[in-house]
Amino acid sequence: MSHIGLHPRCGVALEKNMSVTELRVNGASLPPPRITADTLLQKKLAGHPITALTAYDYPTARLVDEAGIDVVLVGDSLGMVVLGYENTLPVTMDEMLHHTRAVARALRRAFLVADMPYGSYHGSAREATHNAIRFVKDAGAQAVKIEGGSARAELVKRLTEAEVPVVAHIGLTPQSVHSMGGYRVQGKSLAAMDRLAADARALEDAGAIAIVLEGIPRELAARITAQSGIPTIGIGAGPDCDGQILVFHDLFNLTFSPKAKFSRQYADGAAFFSSALEHYRDDVAAHRFPNDAESYHLSREVHSALAATQPRARKA
Ligand code: KIV
Repeated sequence: MSHIGLHPRCGVALEKNMSVTELRVNGASLPPPRITADTLLQKKLAGHPITALTAYDYPTARLVDEAGIDVVLVGDSLGMVVLGYENTLPVTMDEMLHHTRAVARALRRAFLVADMPYGSYHGSAREATHNAIRFVKDAGAQAVKIEGGSARAELVKRLTEAEVPVVAHIGLTPQSVHSMGGYRVQGKSLAAMDRLAADARALEDAGAIAIVLEGIPRELAARITAQSGIPTIGIGAGPDCDGQILVFHDLFNLTFSPKAKFSRQYADGAAFFSSALEHYRDDVAAHRFPNDAESYHLSREVHSALAATQPRARKA
């Protein structure tokens, strides 16, 4: 980027960020207002669906933001879809912070939520608070997400008091894969429904700003959404939530695994990339890439000087 001191997207001077007055420079349009927790609440109240998607790096986060998605989650699904782990459990704080920073650099409008990885909030409240603050202070997140029900209410309260907005996550919580005995739909009995509804209430009372409902029956998601004063964002929880979230790589067939029932593939990214890669391989192998137009050339003068230094070809 050559426009030192200018905002790389809209040409607005960086100093603008320090000013209360929004100025237009060279007629450039201002970036759209940033989504906040309150924007999400207003969408719930107005019955306007909240759109959310995961992202883990600068280019995809930028595309997601520019597409007008409301919430970007740097999910710990990162471990499986980007880093190639078998599940989300090995993901570290350093990995999450690294990817959250990249995504934060890309976003102008979307609300940025970072997942706290397994182990980063399961010890002392002091350590959990320290880790949560790193996401906001060092990585640019606007909220953190933690998995678990009523047992997390105390922590949600503590983080909220430390000015860290918390998105809760209940139902099928992937960090509990071993205690759940696999990735199983939760809340299927009347008792389990009551437990999850009570979890949602406890997390809201503790100060959570929104709640992700994953892998639960549609009827239970509708009940929790109706009882909650905060937005619910569903994944595998049916259409009655206040919003929907999917994993970026599921949308684009980039997971190398069969499509889950709840997700929808909007494009075949794997086929798209594979075809371009094979085309490139074939072009190089057949000397079709690069061509002359894709090459740099000497100037006419240097070219002539070079020719003068070459021994003349002898006449036969
Ligand atoms: O890690 C993740 O991607 C998530 C979403 C599935 C909600 O937690």
